[in-house]
Amino acid sequence: MSFEPHIPEWGLDDFKKHKDKLIEYHKWLKETAIKTGLISIKTDQFIWDEFIIHSLYFAKLIKKFKNLKECEIIDLGTGGGIPGIPISIVNKTNVSLVDNKQKRIFELERLVKILSLKNAKPTKKDAKIVLKEAKNSIIVMRCYVSTSNILKSLEKKQLKENNLKIFVSSNSKSSDILNDMFHVKQEKFLINKNNFRYIDVITDM
Ligand SMILES: C[S@@+](CC[C@H](N)C(=O)[O-])C[C@H]1O[C@@H](n2cnc3c(N)ncnc32)[C@H](O)[C@@H]1O
Repeated sequence: MSFEPHIPEWGLDDFKKHKDKLIEYHKWLKETAIKTGLISIKTDQFIWDEFIIHSLYFAKLIKKFKNLKECEIIDLGTGGGIPGIPISIVNKTNVSLVDNKQKRIFELERLVKILSLKNAKPTKKDAKIVLKEAKNSIIVMRCYVSTSNILKSLEKKQLKENNLKIFVSSNSKSSDILNDMFHVKQEKFLINKNNFRYIDVITDM
């Protein structure tokens, strides 16, 4: 099955620098991740667009925030390492890949060795506990929970006091949410020539 490893203009720089590892990860997703049940059967193009290109936009948003060196990136409900693996390929910051299923963690441990990723750490933990305990972190989630459910689980001042920023994949268009506790800005981007996706960026007021 052939596929086109294209990238929208917003990601060209990262792609040029990290093409080999991104293609190797694509190969692992379409072979090992499908075989071991980490992802369901998908076309090669779907894996590239929806998993890899989508993940790279999380990395692009993360780069906008300063003092990244002092921060950890945490991918909650990482599954096959989405978006945490592409983030760790294009970014030197440490990335925790959190999932509560041991089988997924074993496979991810093998993957980080295959890709020689020194900054990616698979971790078996409950995401809810990690979210409560996180400090000085950028938390990313793709297809794990909705923005509204995350907002319900956050405590007032938690983002400010613990220095957290939260990025959540979002399915639909919604206007930016502003209340007295959090600010949610929706980022819209192309994953290929025709299809847009959304990521909600939750910060403190
Ligand atoms: C729908 S998959 C999404 C995987 C990946 N982020 C993606 O975009 O393809 C959700 C993942 O969250 C994990 N998960 C579910 N509940 C969890 C929990 N309480 N703590 C940590 N991981 C959890 C599941 O094992 C699964 O790998």
